[in-house]
Amino acid sequence: MKFKLIDLLVLKKVIISLLFFCFFFQLSAQETDDLDKKIDSIISVLSIDEKIAMCHAQSKFSSAGVPRLGIPELWMSDGPHGIRAEMNWDNWNYANWTNDYITAFPALTCLAATFNPDLSKEYGVSLGEEARYRNKDVLLGPGVNIYRTPLNGRNFEYMGEDPHLASAMVVPYIHGIQQSGVAACVKHYALNNQEHWRGHINVEVSDRALHEIYLPAFKAAVQDGNAWAIMGAYNKFRGQHCCHNQILLNDILKNKWKFDGVVISDWAGTHDTNEAIYNGLDIEMGTPSNSNISKRFPYNNSFLAQPFLDKIITGEVEEHVLNDKVKRVLRLMNRTSLNKNRPFGSINSKEHLNTAYKVATEGVVLLKNTDGFLPIDISKKITIAVIGENAIKSMTVGGGSSELKVANEISPLEGLRKHFINATIIHSQGYSSESNNKKRNEELKKEALSIAEKANVVLFIGGLNKNNSQDSEGADRQYYNLPYNQDELIKSIARVNKNTAVILISGNAVSIPWGDKIKSIVQSWYLGSEAGNALASILSGRANPSGKLPFTFPKKLSDNAAHYYGTLSYPGDGENQYYKEDILVGYRWNDTKKIKPEFAFGHGLSYTSFKLSNIISDKKNYKSADTIKISCSVENTGSVQGAEVIQVYIGKENSKVNRAMKELKGFKKLSLLKGESKIVEIYITTDKLAFYDETISDWNIEKGEYVVYVGNASDNISKKIKITVI
Ligand code: BGC
Repeated sequence: MKFKLIDLLVLKKVIISLLFFCFFFQLSAQETDDLDKKIDSIISVLSIDEKIAMCHAQSKFSSAGVPRLGIPELWMSDGPHGIRAEMNWDNWNYANWTNDYITAFPALTCLAATFNPDLSKEYGVSLGEEARYRNKDVLLGPGVNIYRTPLNGRNFEYMGEDPHLASAMVVPYIHGIQQSGVAACVKHYALNNQEHWRGHINVEVSDRALHEIYLPAFKAAVQDGNAWAIMGAYNKFRGQHCCHNQILLNDILKNKWKFDGVVISDWAGTHDTNEAIYNGLDIEMGTPSNSNISKRFPYNNSFLAQPFLDKIITGEVEEHVLNDKVKRVLRLMNRTSLNKNRPFGSINSKEHLNTAYKVATEGVVLLKNTDGFLPIDISKKITIAVIGENAIKSMTVGGGSSELKVANEISPLEGLRKHFINATIIHSQGYSSESNNKKRNEELKKEALSIAEKANVVLFIGGLNKNNSQDSEGADRQYYNLPYNQDELIKSIARVNKNTAVILISGNAVSIPWGDKIKSIVQSWYLGSEAGNALASILSGRANPSGKLPFTFPKKLSDNAAHYYGTLSYPGDGENQYYKEDILVGYRWNDTKKIKPEFAFGHGLSYTSFKLSNIISDKKNYKSADTIKISCSVENTGSVQGAEVIQVYIGKENSKVNRAMKELKGFKKLSLLKGESKIVEIYITTDKLAFYDETISDWNIEKGEYVVYVGNASDNISKKIKITVI
């Protein structure tokens, strides 16, 4: 019997497919180095076109697999605090599916404010389950850009101003997500610390600030979190776009940190073919497609599509460069879409809502509470005037790519009505984010003041929102004050009713020119599905606040280091910007320069009180490989159960380099019943005291005396201990 050539080709394809299936179905039992070899064997049977297709988008949120071999596509989704609704294949409109309603988890500023890494794990697990249920392979988050200025429109998507806190919180989040066989894609690497001019601004920053402030959370995500993907940032660093940046991606991420995952570009963040090929990018996403020209290959004009293919075919670029990218993509697929053991996931479960509620209640920060004004007794038959647009405004809609289609979002007003069943609750909007009509706005204010006057208690629920130029992607805030004349409104309310609390809903610090006229101030965040329930629990005392600020509230903008140095520092001159404050970001600046903030990093009150005592270090002298143990006894001296965060900062006096007065090096949250005492132990390895020494391009642990500061806020230190590194 004779075989035609065509039959032989078909037979070859069938054999390759079978081999491929056998290979991946056995994989879970194989060791990692075996995996590498097997991936190489797959690569050897892929055509150049197939390999190229894996390195760029095929739709807004997917990249190609290899259908003939049963290698599935990769599906990605925003991120970072819920799974975004389905979008159309090739435009930014929503697809209007009916099965993509999800749980909205609190924004990452709130998660950071919990100072609770266990809760971060739980958050990641729940989010990963929702992503998996929605058939996503890569979750575009978490974001760990450092909070440099309160004007950055995207701070709410990140974990605050401190590299140690962000690192400690991001690692369990990643472990949680990836447990479902969904990759975390940590973003935006790096230095995307403002939205203004984000697409082209070139950041000039010292190596020291880069390594000590802006990179540690990414490094922790890669080395301790074992993140499977990273997203490049839009901006430039030292003249090169971050999505194809030799220093950030090749030298640091892939070579120094040994990242074995995939670098994904931010959407339309790729700008140059050769740089995209050689400088560390693996999958190019979001480059505007030419779907008008070709329906079949709409993304062929991506830098890593036809232009890359041409260079491979002519031999200008060697194939091993392409193979390295494909190897990483296949490794990612093995961890996600090809992992036959990954669980099915779940969505909108009771457990997920419970996680959202827990994070929200633990993250809310009680900033001020004169005479124990809060909590408000729910048994009282009082009249509560709830004033403010944020009492009723959805905060899951808007804000850019993190916008969500939530199954159910409890507004603050709904939550209060549900909880305070004995009270008469009257709501008045007070101001409007939509109206520029002076007359209408005056009416809103008048109505608010008239209900404030008659009420026993006023809860003003305002702050920022997810509109453009507020807490939103693509543009920064234009000023530090509250928008829509809220400052004037709050002052007027305080004049007619002294029993007023202000609840700020925002992902950013704001100026507080009315602070001394208000009894209580609460920093609430974008709290997600359970917003109203969580807030009502805090205001009623059902939950005791235990959140701590993950960033400083300066009194005025120029008290923030980035702004102190003027426009070349922020926002730059349109082309470049210079991080002149260097390592003195956030509280490091306030402490070192002795500028008192409105509210300090790590600050957060409780309805109970805590006493810290017996604060000691286990030794006086430490060698450079030792671990420092700090113990402290904590007693709940108030009348209700509560949780406190013990914070350990360390500083070096008389250092040979500039240093911040102190830096967070360890923390622990503990819950205590009324009257209960516990001993907390915090371990800090001595290498955490190192500075990044630019003369040797490496970390350097200086010998000599250090001061350990232990307290419950960066500006509330109970004890200083001197230790020596010998
Ligand atoms: C954002 C990313 C996001 C991507 C996809 C970009 O504009 O910067 O954070 O993941 O869009 O929506």
